[in-house]
Amino acid sequence: MFITLEGIEGSGKTSQIAHIVDFLTDEGYDCVTTREPGGTKAGERIRSILLDPASDDLAADAELLLYIADRVQHLNTFILPRLAAGKTVVCDRFFDATLVYQGYARGLELRLIRRLHQLTCRNIKPDLTFLLDLSPQSGLSRAWAQLNDGSRTGDESRFEQETLDFHNKVRKGYLEVAGTEPERFRIIDGSLAMDQVRQKIISELTRFLNRSDEHF
Ligand code: TMP
Repeated sequence: MFITLEGIEGSGKTSQIAHIVDFLTDEGYDCVTTREPGGTKAGERIRSILLDPASDDLAADAELLLYIADRVQHLNTFILPRLAAGKTVVCDRFFDATLVYQGYARGLELRLIRRLHQLTCRNIKPDLTFLLDLSPQSGLSRAWAQLNDGSRTGDESRFEQETLDFHNKVRKGYLEVAGTEPERFRIIDGSLAMDQVRQKIISELTRFLNRSDEHF
């Protein structure tokens, strides 16, 4: 089973991944967690180019191709072998992020991004995606608090430094993409307290597992 979490900066994905894994492990699933960009040795190096504010001259299409290179490496050397071994992969961001950040927010053509995903990643999609939705004002203030208290490094703040307008487009893009695939997406109110978000995710997950018992 392949599960992803998506959302704007500061939406709380990373904390919720740990809760998802605890729950699934208790239910007897053999889980691994990973993230994009990153998740492999080469991918972590691509990540530092992508997230470092020093990469301020990165062209939008070069950025897109680096996210795709990271994904091809991650999918082929990490995700697919683990899924084939019967593991559950829980991933912090995947293709939806490319569609939203490079497409909706940067303005690259959505059709091109979808086509590239078909060509390079066989259009592989997660079985289930949680979208943690909240206003960019709240998300960014959380993200900046993490940067200021040192729990997140400034070397990874290139997207936090984007304008509010950019982050509004990201939020809108996520909601639009989720609307096109309601069977895969679960939209969770990310402005709630962390424990309430956890409860909502676990109850959606329980419903999903009961429904798909035969598959997994
Ligand atoms: P995160 O690991 O804190 O979520 O940061 C990853 C950043 O990279 C975040 O700002 C979203 C951005 N991103 C893209 O722009 N496109 C992508 O395809 C992915 C996976 C992430």
